[in-house]
Amino acid sequence: MPSQTTTRRLAAALCTGLLTVSLGAAAAQPAAAYSPDGAQEQSAPGNSGNAGRPDSPGNSGNAGRPDSPGNSGNAGRPDSPGNSGNAGRPENPGKPDNPGRPGGDDAGAAECAFAPEGGRTDYDAGRDSLRAHSDDGIRIGNVAAGGGHFDDEGSTDPFFGEDGYQEHLAAEYSSITHENYLKWEFVHPEEGVYDFEAADAVVEFAQAHDMDVRGHALSWHSQNPDWLEEGDHSPEELRGILEDHVRTVVSRYAGCIQQWDVANEIFGDDADATIRDEENIWIRELGVEVLDDVFRWAHEEDPDALLFYNDYNVDGVNAKSDAYYDLVQGQLERGVPVHGFGAQTHLSMNYGFDETYQENLERFDALGLYTAVTEIDVRGDVGEDDRMNDEDRAGAAERFETVLQACLEVDNCNSFTIWGTLDAHSWVPGTFPGEGDATLHEGDYERKPTYCVIQRTLVEHQEGGDSWAEDAAFEECRGILEEAGV
Ligand code: XIL
Repeated sequence: MPSQTTTRRLAAALCTGLLTVSLGAAAAQPAAAYSPDGAQEQSAPGNSGNAGRPDSPGNSGNAGRPDSPGNSGNAGRPDSPGNSGNAGRPENPGKPDNPGRPGGDDAGAAECAFAPEGGRTDYDAGRDSLRAHSDDGIRIGNVAAGGGHFDDEGSTDPFFGEDGYQEHLAAEYSSITHENYLKWEFVHPEEGVYDFEAADAVVEFAQAHDMDVRGHALSWHSQNPDWLEEGDHSPEELRGILEDHVRTVVSRYAGCIQQWDVANEIFGDDADATIRDEENIWIRELGVEVLDDVFRWAHEEDPDALLFYNDYNVDGVNAKSDAYYDLVQGQLERGVPVHGFGAQTHLSMNYGFDETYQENLERFDALGLYTAVTEIDVRGDVGEDDRMNDEDRAGAAERFETVLQACLEVDNCNSFTIWGTLDAHSWVPGTFPGEGDATLHEGDYERKPTYCVIQRTLVEHQEGGDSWAEDAAFEECRGILEEAGV
């Protein structure tokens, strides 16, 4: 469970982001986004959010579960199938020839230990759903919401506690990510103790509903447990702790998690995009070189998983994305198995949109990397009805469309994940007071214009324009977009 200290640390980090972004934005970035006003105001009223969590997320098929959750293990999965731990790196570490996408037929891939008997279950998606129009080339995802701000706000985790939530995810999305459950403070709450209960359940759910999983995140400066941040470990001990964590978590989910955010948010928001060598315990204590090792350890434990960097405010060619570009280029030259670059894409209508979004993805693609839109939401100032004004709503829909189009245009942009289902679940209102309306659904899963532009863009991309414009299946969205003027 996230402690109040952790929450304060997160708020402080966000606040720092605010101060530096406002300087950096003028100099280098027209489109800063994740820089919350008043994030320090976030309250931390105790941590009771998980009280009602059932043991499983409502699907059976646990036959393959390797061991009991919530314990010990530094051995990863005891029975880890087909996971030698020392496999050679592919010749081109940037983009493996065989990325081992799920549902694919790469014979050497580890078998997911959380698959129901008979393997991952097929799912028959409705014609008007987003997942019906995603494929191996691009997965459309959302989060298994829970932990983090839900705990801080003392509310129930939607993934485990809300009727209809899981059904909605399965009906609309072909990919899922643990919003918080795979972060250190959840999965590694005490030194030497791992708690996989929630994380396992999400992976089982994905397997039972034919969804990919984006693993988030193996190393970060935020949402770390107190025992780590406030512990008194030598650099050598820290290195051992990190290696154990990475190997344990990645091996457990080998064959289940197709993409990992291996290093999250390592650069700052200052004009020079300085590496976070104060806030990030790993970089501070072990030096930036440790990143090479983190990627190598993860790759050894699951050679088929695609290993990503992930950050916000890299939504265009700017100082921060330049910093990633240089870092990755050097790593590829050294043979480090880095495979992907993720742009979180937390956008706000209070900032501009950087027209170099696609160009930025393209340059990482040209390096031989996969790219992904990993956490998109588009927020804005809201009124009493929790909605933006009509103009901002239409503008937000256009941004979703532009970003999705960019991803579809870039060959190896292989997933597009929305950060939140209903507005009521989103991290935005609690983190950016006064802002909201950032997701695709509102009320009781009613579709917003943002949903409908994504549907339209995917269908037109896959089937051509006539289909979306004429097929009765898309009538609802045609009406919503017509009314919104999008
Ligand atoms: C957010 C979660 O959505 C919240 O529940 C939590 O309180 C804070 O973290 N960048 C990331 C994500 O990489 O992990 C963050 O998720 C949003 C910003």
